[in-house]
Amino acid sequence: MNKTKRIGILTSGGDCAGLNAVIRAVVNSASRLGWEIYGIHNGTEGLTNDPLEYEVLTVQNFSDTPWPRLSGSYLGSLNKGVKMESLGEMSKRFGEGVKKLGLDAVIVVGGDGSMNITGNYCKGAGVKMIGIPKTIDNDTPITEFSVGFNSACQVCTNAIDSLELTARSHHRALILEVMGRDAGHLAMQSALAGQADVCLVPEIPYKIDGVINKLKEIKASGRDHAIIVVSEGIKTEDGQHLSAAKNLIGEAVYGGVGQYLSAEINNRYHDFQTRVTTLGHVQRSGTPSCFDRMLAAMFGAKAVELLAKDQTDMMVVWKNGKVGAYSIDEVVKEGTTLLDTNSDSVKAAAAIGMYIGEIEK
Ligand code: F6P
Repeated sequence: MNKTKRIGILTSGGDCAGLNAVIRAVVNSASRLGWEIYGIHNGTEGLTNDPLEYEVLTVQNFSDTPWPRLSGSYLGSLNKGVKMESLGEMSKRFGEGVKKLGLDAVIVVGGDGSMNITGNYCKGAGVKMIGIPKTIDNDTPITEFSVGFNSACQVCTNAIDSLELTARSHHRALILEVMGRDAGHLAMQSALAGQADVCLVPEIPYKIDGVINKLKEIKASGRDHAIIVVSEGIKTEDGQHLSAAKNLIGEAVYGGVGQYLSAEINNRYHDFQTRVTTLGHVQRSGTPSCFDRMLAAMFGAKAVELLAKDQTDMMVVWKNGKVGAYSIDEVVKEGTTLLDTNSDSVKAAAAIGMYIGEIEK
């Protein structure tokens, strides 16, 4: 028998395009079953703070507003904002929040980190959970695509297109630093789409001289401008991660490797001037793409369908062209999905002559 009557939904981790389309899909599907939906504010904080932070959501919240078409999170989100309190204590508070609101289950829209943290909270507190993967990094395990990745790729591709025009005018090698943390999916897909000359990702070692050789090759071919895409998570040649800031729990937030690369190229090679664009958080707030909106609708509907069947502690996924579901335990066990250096995108990049590092041929 379907006992789920009141559910919570929260968005956790870095925001991205398509979150509001997910929330709308959940609210619409669940409302049609006669359920109540509680929108939890600011990730898990809405359930662990005192007073609790939430609002009751109905189809009206999303039927006559532009929200579902916009990026950002209507509910607010929290990226690594959990202070170093014990998992047990946080889980207890989370469970108490869920109990106070009388929630039968919580839908967590998050990435790999959120699946791990909230999965633990829910397990510790005996709360039923369904995960919906979202992240511009596309590193959530098992699912081939997470909501937000495709839209972020479009932002990066548009940036490359714009940079190409000014690179052409000034005969420069322009460097675009993109996000993605330790995964090179965003860099590789947008470099391919944007027809970049060089793409450096954390998964493939590179040499500055390798980049310079590519620039020399371009120059020798008669072209005097170039585009270099670099993932924020690559290390310097001597193995350091560069960081521009720290998050709320003191972890390094990547940033700055584009400037490093620019300086290193300029020190050793003078035929191209280099400049750096660090794209930053605009990657998280582009217009939600067609693919992300479609994924959002299918994931939201599937999450509610699973709850209706009382199948919980699962994350919905997109795999082999279909929506499915895997246990949160299995997802968490997989860790983070990095760029497969044998993937078709990497092979294609190498085949069309992009310098992608010192990859074995
Ligand atoms: O995980 C999403 C992401 O945008 C990463 O690509 C990036 O490294 C990080 O979040 C930035 O975090 P913050 O929003 O805390 O600056």
